[in-house]
Amino acid sequence: MKKFAGLAAAGAILVALAGCAGGGGGGTADGPKPLDELVVGFAQVGAESGWRTANTENIQSSFKDAGIELKFSDAQQKQENQIKAIRSYIQQGVDYIAFSPVVETGWDAVLNEAKAAGIPVILTDRAVDSKDDSLYVTFLGSDFIAEGEKAGNWAVEEFADKDKVNIIQLEGTTGSAPALDRAEGFANIIGKDPKFQIVASQTGDFTRAGGKQVTEALLKSNPDVDLIFAHNDDMGLGAIEAIEAAGLTPGKDIEIVTIDAVHDGMQALADGKINYIVECSPLLGGQLVDVIKTLNDGGTVEKRIITEEGEFNQEQAIAALPDRKY
Ligand code: AHR
Repeated sequence: MKKFAGLAAAGAILVALAGCAGGGGGGTADGPKPLDELVVGFAQVGAESGWRTANTENIQSSFKDAGIELKFSDAQQKQENQIKAIRSYIQQGVDYIAFSPVVETGWDAVLNEAKAAGIPVILTDRAVDSKDDSLYVTFLGSDFIAEGEKAGNWAVEEFADKDKVNIIQLEGTTGSAPALDRAEGFANIIGKDPKFQIVASQTGDFTRAGGKQVTEALLKSNPDVDLIFAHNDDMGLGAIEAIEAAGLTPGKDIEIVTIDAVHDGMQALADGKINYIVECSPLLGGQLVDVIKTLNDGGTVEKRIITEEGEFNQEQAIAALPDRKY
């Protein structure tokens, strides 16, 4: 197997200090607001995965360290809860709103309300599908299509000597940017060779329980599976439990490739139960604080800020685990 060089990258931020404001808010009209007077509302997706827990902790600690007040809400993976939280931040007159959209569509109305109130919105982690990109200042997060493609490229190398590869895909939350884009990226690569067949593809909602339940059911109807592509580590960890319960050996009888590289996923990779992980960094808090400081100072930011990420095989996971922060 080819050795990939990537290790966790903190994520590059492309923020330019320039002349005009990036959408109002903060104190740009009368100069910057003191940081201890800024208020930011953050509408989080939920607590569905190890990744999300690490993301929440990182965002909360980054704002604490910066001395900026953070109002935080957990939408429990429901779009209506997130819309309610954003409306409440608008009513409270916060300086900035940041959120990680549960799903891609259906945001225009509430984002227009934020725009009318002069509150800049920053997308973190996940994108919205809207024709009007004036509804948000920037989208800060991973390239999910590239993540799916990296998983596909690994599969092409790993199964180079096989004539037929049957795949189960465990999808993330239906309609979410990472589920749509990772499926697209993976298909971009494996679709070039008909020996790769996705024999079943179902949502496990990014949870460990979902991954286990879906894998249990799909293994009954598809006994001849070579590879599971799970859209995140948690669903891959659930799949391991289902494979073991079926009397098979994860990582050998059925190989697994996942996305995230959180601690439990990396441990499973080190133990040989997962075969490969594409990194998706949850450490977005520092970059979000930098964006807000730049806007508060009257600067502009890039419309798209992409987080840099690596990939891990077993050997690399063993080396990285002792220093892994999440
Ligand atoms: O949006 C990022 C994805 O959401 C992570 O890959 C997943 O673990 C989380 O739930």
